[in-house]
Amino acid sequence: MATKFVPVAPPQIIEGVYSTDQHARLLKLVRDKGPWEMILAQHFQSPEEVLATTSGTMPEGFTPTWEMFMSPVFRGYLAKGATALYPEIEDCFWNSKFTDLVRNYWGAEYARPENMLFNIQGPCRGSETPHVDATNFRGVDSLNAPVWLMNMMVKSGLFDRWRCKKAQVITWYYRGQVGGGFNYWPNGPQAEPAQIKAPMWGRAVVVENEMMYHTAEATGPSAMRWPDGLNIKSRMRSAPDSDGWQVVNGDTVIQDIPAEEFRLLLHWGADIYMDYNELKRALDHTDDISKDQVFDTLIADMRARGLTFEVPTDPLTDQKFIALLTRTYDPGKPAIFPPEPEEALAA
Ligand SMILES: [Fe+2]
Repeated sequence: MATKFVPVAPPQIIEGVYSTDQHARLLKLVRDKGPWEMILAQHFQSPEEVLATTSGTMPEGFTPTWEMFMSPVFRGYLAKGATALYPEIEDCFWNSKFTDLVRNYWGAEYARPENMLFNIQGPCRGSETPHVDATNFRGVDSLNAPVWLMNMMVKSGLFDRWRCKKAQVITWYYRGQVGGGFNYWPNGPQAEPAQIKAPMWGRAVVVENEMMYHTAEATGPSAMRWPDGLNIKSRMRSAPDSDGWQVVNGDTVIQDIPAEEFRLLLHWGADIYMDYNELKRALDHTDDISKDQVFDTLIADMRARGLTFEVPTDPLTDQKFIALLTRTYDPGKPAIFPPEPEEALAA
């Protein structure tokens, strides 16, 4: 049985979660500290690994390419491992309003801010492969394992006992006229999608994105959605002499993005503990799982399903093995998509 991808509670939409001053400081940081790398470049070693974290699967023997998954969306971190990386936005990270929201969302006693990041983009096509966010397990987490492995652990449904509970507050700032919303599947990938519509300025959702398929809606004028020369090493930065932005290859500007086509997403994530016992179990490491246990469990489960395969010497990087796991545990691609955004209205 594959996991049922449904969040612990329906996503809650709220407005104005950051103050004007907080937003200004966050934006200044994004402008000043770039250029920022593409999301894909930061999280994956190969296109096969990307495939393992999205929905859908490919025929055996098919070789995926970076271009299949690449999109001009760029990312930077504001906090990692419960540590704010920039003192000037510490109040945004250590945010009692947010901890309160996510405790209530889960009905939990405790929440601890864990990470904070931003995605920035100009015009961009929509994704046909919505994803769930990477989660952590007690003993196997982003500090010692690749994103795809934890994703596979969720999809298999075999490691729920060790899965860390999480919640996010995701906030958008986008004033463009075409698309730019948030598409999500709150009742599972085979059910009807829902959509948070742009333009939005400080609109946020409280959500468990590890258990809910989601993706950005296509954004901006379609003619601008793929800058010429875009590659996995392209980066994004603020324009030096305007309030706009630029996509660059090294020092070469391949696209100018006006401020009104700039979309900022702020992701704030917390660890959740239902009660003191659960917190203790995590802090004391009395019930952790190891990567060896994970692979032993996956291999035993696939054998029990009647699959025949060679056990790889390094399952962490063996692309044939990753592809086999993907085919075995894929929960199915979302079947129904919201309509593409209207462009005529913006002309
Ligand atoms: Fe996501």
